[in-house]
Amino acid sequence: MGQPLNIGIVGCGAIVGQYLATIARLPQLRLVAVADLDLDRARQAVKDHPDVAVTDVAQLMADPRIELVLNLTVPAVHAEIALLAVAAGKHVYGEKPLAATSADAQRVLEAAAAAGVRVGCAPDTVLGTGTQTARMAIDDGLIGAPIAATATMVTPGHERWHPNPDFYYAPGGGPLLDMGPYYISSLITMLGPVTSVIGAGSRTRAKRRIGSGPREGEEVPVTVDTHISGVLVHASGVLSTLVMSFDAVATRAANIEVHGEKGSLVVPDPNHFDGEVQLSRLGGPGWTPLPVSAGYQGAGRGVGLADFAATPPGREPRAGGQLAFHVLDVMESLLASAGSGRAVTVESTCERPRPVPLTDAATA
Ligand SMILES: NC(=O)c1ccc[n+]([C@@H]2O[C@H](COP(=O)([O-])OP(=O)(O)OC[C@H]3O[C@@H](n4cnc5c(N)ncnc54)[C@H](O)[C@@H]3O)[C@@H](O)[C@H]2O)c1
Repeated sequence: MGQPLNIGIVGCGAIVGQYLATIARLPQLRLVAVADLDLDRARQAVKDHPDVAVTDVAQLMADPRIELVLNLTVPAVHAEIALLAVAAGKHVYGEKPLAATSADAQRVLEAAAAAGVRVGCAPDTVLGTGTQTARMAIDDGLIGAPIAATATMVTPGHERWHPNPDFYYAPGGGPLLDMGPYYISSLITMLGPVTSVIGAGSRTRAKRRIGSGPREGEEVPVTVDTHISGVLVHASGVLSTLVMSFDAVATRAANIEVHGEKGSLVVPDPNHFDGEVQLSRLGGPGWTPLPVSAGYQGAGRGVGLADFAATPPGREPRAGGQLAFHVLDVMESLLASAGSGRAVTVESTCERPRPVPLTDAATA
């Protein structure tokens, strides 16, 4: 293995701890500095990491040791921070969505291409054994020709547990832009890119009450649809049905099911790395678990960075900007369709990311 990838993190909120844990245990990655608008938050995040510098954003961007900026800010500033990183000649890997709008995301990809740096984006959960084992089952023909899929994410809302849930109810948020990246990235990993969509949306209430933390009881405005249904038409002809909701209470539907001519698959939660894939074959004994056969084992949020570091120059990382852009375009097209009541052609496309052979995350 070569030198570890030197990383600077911008944004030290709720999710940073999971990345810190992954970076600390993957020898391919080294954390150099962290920054946040709120320096106390940055200090607090790395209080047990004395070697990590705490800086402001400008200092972090100017630090010559840093090769990649890990962008863990809120969606509304994803593009702004990514563009600063690119302008500083650094690679950038961000939390999802790639940007709040596809126009902003396009600017990031174009600037990165011009600067000769690369863009990666969460979710990397789909590189884990859950989605990857399901993908291998499909590629190996276990369900025959794929026909359709369903993807269901239902929760009454993140304001019950997140201390600063404002961004979930602002443009760039909502159940589709927040949770859709997991489900749509998994569907594209298994079934390929999407060519058109039909969507519909609704919202139940204009405000949400914060349920925990110092702002408990405060209300945040809702300016996006909080229940989205849609159909994705894949280039292959497969039809995926999507339900993403911050309004509904609970569901017993599988997170994802994929149906083929000869069988059906249950695919585990794409917001997690692992989980059991189940297969029911036409004329077979019913639902049977499949052995884990592909994907990063022992992965956590940030394994996409190790995959990024291992991707040779000139090649798209698996959790790459092209896939993230296509996913964002699919989601925006769904919202446009919901607004117009008409099917919308998805203008972008992407390569299906390369499959991940069964690999220990520490040796990605
Ligand atoms: N919270 C989760 O469970 C979770 C899970 C998966 C992904 N994510 C994604 O991670 C990202 C961050 O989510 P979070 O829950 O950690 O949010 P958060 O609001 O808790 O933290 C965001 C942090 O970014 C900082 N920040 C905002 N603008 C900044 C700027 N211009 N410069 C520097 N710092 C800035 C804020 O001060 C804050 O500390 C989002 O894209 C979210 O979708 C969150």
